[in-house]
Amino acid sequence: MSYTAAVITVSDKGYRGERVDEAGPEAARLLTQAGFCVTYRGLVPDEAGLISAELIKCADEMDVALIITTGGTGFSPRDITPEATLAVVERRTPGIPEAMRFESARVTNRAMLSRMEAGIRSRSLIVNLPGSTKAARENLTAALSSLEHGLEMLRGAQRDHE
Ligand code: MTE
Repeated sequence: MSYTAAVITVSDKGYRGERVDEAGPEAARLLTQAGFCVTYRGLVPDEAGLISAELIKCADEMDVALIITTGGTGFSPRDITPEATLAVVERRTPGIPEAMRFESARVTNRAMLSRMEAGIRSRSLIVNLPGSTKAARENLTAALSSLEHGLEMLRGAQRDHE
């Protein structure tokens, strides 16, 4: 019994093949370990339109319960994942990034530098994570245990896979 999940890596270098994506596989591994069924993996450059389109595809066409992004949450000029996320969510869920930043602040003062967002589009929950493998792992671990209850409220008790 599990909810479906998608992991979308946002990285110019990853998209161009100049960097191996390790954060995406790590997020997928943690989700699988927590009982999610990872049904989609994506890799897009730091382009707002492409990120938003990927999120809409996972939510509207694929009806994925939990959509995780990794990367593009910092201060660089091309870090626009939070804006691309806010452009497509209908309701923000600020408690999720608040809790992740709170837990991350125990590890590093730089936790405050992630602008990650989260929100609901229809029946899907979208959560941003930072781009480094370590930061993605730490933030997702901080949120994972509470996400299932949120998805139960969002989708009813009915699971995607019995
Ligand atoms: N959160 C945790 N738990 N651990 C980290 O190492 N790194 C921070 C922050 N959040 C970090 C973290 C840093 S250095 C940055 S710049 C921001 O995430 C944004 O990362 P991004 O630009 O890769 O999305």
